[in-house]
Amino acid sequence: MPAVIIDGGAIARKIRARAAQSALALAARGERPCLAVILVGNDPASLSYVGAKEKALAQAGMLSVDARLPEGSSEASVLAAIERFNGDDKVHGILVQLPLPAGLSEGRVIAAISPEKDVDGFCPVSVGNATFGRPSFLPCTPSGVMEILREIGAVVSGAHAVVVGRSCIVGRPMAMMLGARGADATVTMCHSGTRDLARHTLQADILVAAAGRPGLITADMIKPGAVVIDVGVNRVADPSRESGYRLVGDVDFEGALERASHITPVPGGVGPMTIAMLLENVAKAARERAEKKEGKQ
Ligand code: GUN
Repeated sequence: MPAVIIDGGAIARKIRARAAQSALALAARGERPCLAVILVGNDPASLSYVGAKEKALAQAGMLSVDARLPEGSSEASVLAAIERFNGDDKVHGILVQLPLPAGLSEGRVIAAISPEKDVDGFCPVSVGNATFGRPSFLPCTPSGVMEILREIGAVVSGAHAVVVGRSCIVGRPMAMMLGARGADATVTMCHSGTRDLARHTLQADILVAAAGRPGLITADMIKPGAVVIDVGVNRVADPSRESGYRLVGDVDFEGALERASHITPVPGGVGPMTIAMLLENVAKAARERAEKKEGKQ
């Protein structure tokens, strides 16, 4: 039987509706959720992601402010924008769109974000807290994957989860979240240095592909009945399209359909979940601010 194709758009819509409800309730408490978005340069993919995030915020009744800095901006000017938003009481969350142009240190820039506004969950304090199981913002894409697994009723506890990719945005936090107390998967993390990748992926009850390499995971690398989550978003040339390209994941989708029990498509799988989880994190930041203020009264 071919795999069930997971409709990430439908799951994301439910979460976005919930976030919109939260935004309404928070606005009534005097905290209309607001995200500050910092974008440096003109990378077309980043421009499109930032546009989609700002549109989703508006649709959920949340505010956004942005700082668009030109290509070639100094690190000091990016840090100054972060400092301004750190000190702005109307701003609940700060997001620096990655990747930054060459020459800027992502590590230094991200570390400058106040942990209570770090809705991407990338700053060292957030990563440390999350790693130790303490309350923290969790990165949006792996959170979206966890939400998908919950939604489809996948058995995570005791399962063998294999994560392919070790980026700070997806692979590392994904492996941490799957293996955390409460999720309780046994996790293998594979990467470009892994010898005989198929030997590992064939063990996966849950396979998360997040390497950014089109076609990396072929059907013969998938354990029959596995849940396959494709986080890859790769542009491949397609002269039949007006844009000249189409988006594909890291998994050979057609082949995987015959092996997996469930699979996320690209686009329309994990992608919509990232934005939905961002809205949830912005609402959470605003809720924490409201609670702090109300507690002080
Ligand atoms: N670039 C790719 N994914 C992300 C993300 O989740 N957050 C940010 N800030 N940049 C990204």
